[in-house]
Amino acid sequence: MKGIILAGGAGSRLYPLTLVASKQLQPVYDKPMVYYPLTTLLENGVREFCLISTPQDLPRFRQLLGDGASLGVTIEYREQSKPGGIAQAFLIAEPFIGGDPVALILGDNLFYGGDSFLKAFTDYRSGATIFGYPVEDPQRYGVVEFDEQGNALSIEEKPALPRSQFAVPGLYLYDEQVVGITRALRPSPRGELEITDVNREYLRRGTLRVHKLSRGFAWLDAGTSSSLHDASAYVQTIEKRQGIKIGCPEEAAFRRGFLDLEGLRRVVSNLPVCEYRAYLDKVVREAGASRLG
Ligand code: DAU
Repeated sequence: MKGIILAGGAGSRLYPLTLVASKQLQPVYDKPMVYYPLTTLLENGVREFCLISTPQDLPRFRQLLGDGASLGVTIEYREQSKPGGIAQAFLIAEPFIGGDPVALILGDNLFYGGDSFLKAFTDYRSGATIFGYPVEDPQRYGVVEFDEQGNALSIEEKPALPRSQFAVPGLYLYDEQVVGITRALRPSPRGELEITDVNREYLRRGTLRVHKLSRGFAWLDAGTSSSLHDASAYVQTIEKRQGIKIGCPEEAAFRRGFLDLEGLRRVVSNLPVCEYRAYLDKVVREAGASRLG
């Protein structure tokens, strides 16, 4: 499965923070926001990435993440010249997708808790797989309605009167048909190629699966100053309490076997002395000790 990270958009809701760096480069507690979705895909076995952003911001993402070699993965970069909608990512990344299944993740979505996605990634064969997460304010999101057997009945984008509490988070798995489906879409009244319209087409074809995420799972989007602050506070609380890091791509690449212990050691040795390095040093030490033991 390949992975697209969509990290463009105007970021106007975070103005003036976004005057000098895009939303997905803003800090969420101790790391840039984009580390979190990148880590989610790494944890689920994605090794080939395409990051899409604006022409102004793309050089900064490249500076931050490079070509992925230090993580044992590949990262390529493509421009979205104007925010034409989330689904436009599939047209921009068409040469990258090249007939393979692809996971799209939004650069401002943070996920944490257990291995809720792993089964969906492992079980994925074809069609579309999306997720449903109960929220207090579903009208802000894509909303999925289920029948009594748990099958999806309808999906609507930001409905004034939501038919359920289940919002659709910004992580979607598709087969190669997603490119053709997107090409046939008409822009919505807000002038965008809507991801919800892609999902509706898979639903119409009978090839959409929706996994409900469990209550203990955390999904945060960091699109406003207040939700950005909440996300930072959440990450800080978990990290301090458990002595772990959420959204650490080096660790995820190591645990997935994309980097061996020597590779991780090399990465760590290039980091400045800081808390992030101290954490990865600990990961290296513990892995070294368990290898000996
Ligand atoms: O967060 C999940 C929600 O994301 C879904 O439930 C909705 O169905 C989906 O439409 C989307 O809703 P938003 O209103 O949050 O989408 P927004 O326009 O804020 O874009 C989400 C992210 O994608 C944001 O970080 C910017 C980026 N983006 C967006 C557009 C429209 C791009 O990079 N390019 C774009 O053209």
